[in-house]
Amino acid sequence: MNLDETLLEGLTEEQFAQLQAAASRVSANAYTPYSGMHVGAAVLTDGGEIFTGCNVENASYGLTICAERAAIFAAVSSQGSSMRIRAIAIFCGANIPCSPCGACRQVIAEFGDSIPVVYGNGQAWERTTSAELLPHGFRM
Ligand code: THU
Repeated sequence: MNLDETLLEGLTEEQFAQLQAAASRVSANAYTPYSGMHVGAAVLTDGGEIFTGCNVENASYGLTICAERAAIFAAVSSQGSSMRIRAIAIFCGANIPCSPCGACRQVIAEFGDSIPVVYGNGQAWERTTSAELLPHGFRM
């Protein structure tokens, strides 16, 4: 099975489009007085619900939370520890594709195996999986 077939398994193009649109919409809420970079993420859970999050920066830079983790933590806060990610989309307002940072890759991988990950800036979208983004990730 090639990568595209794996990614599309059980997911329609419409679902991808919906997720990408949700990520794009929520990026408008990003709090970014320091970088000016607006990022939005949308998580589709196994149950079919969508949760969104944006990056929230802080004057103490290290306290910044990325959009991906904000969305995932919102999903867990709502659904509890059984929450599993079916797919995640990440939108970046800047003119770069914005693949998830290393910390977010580890957090995405926590909630499913080989999760479809779509990231882009509205013009170009890339599709990959959590397994491809984080080979040999840490597991307990
Ligand atoms: N950022 C994200 O929201 N997700 C990532 O995966 C990478 C970086 C945010 C954090 C910060 O507000 C800004 O992008 C610049 O690093």
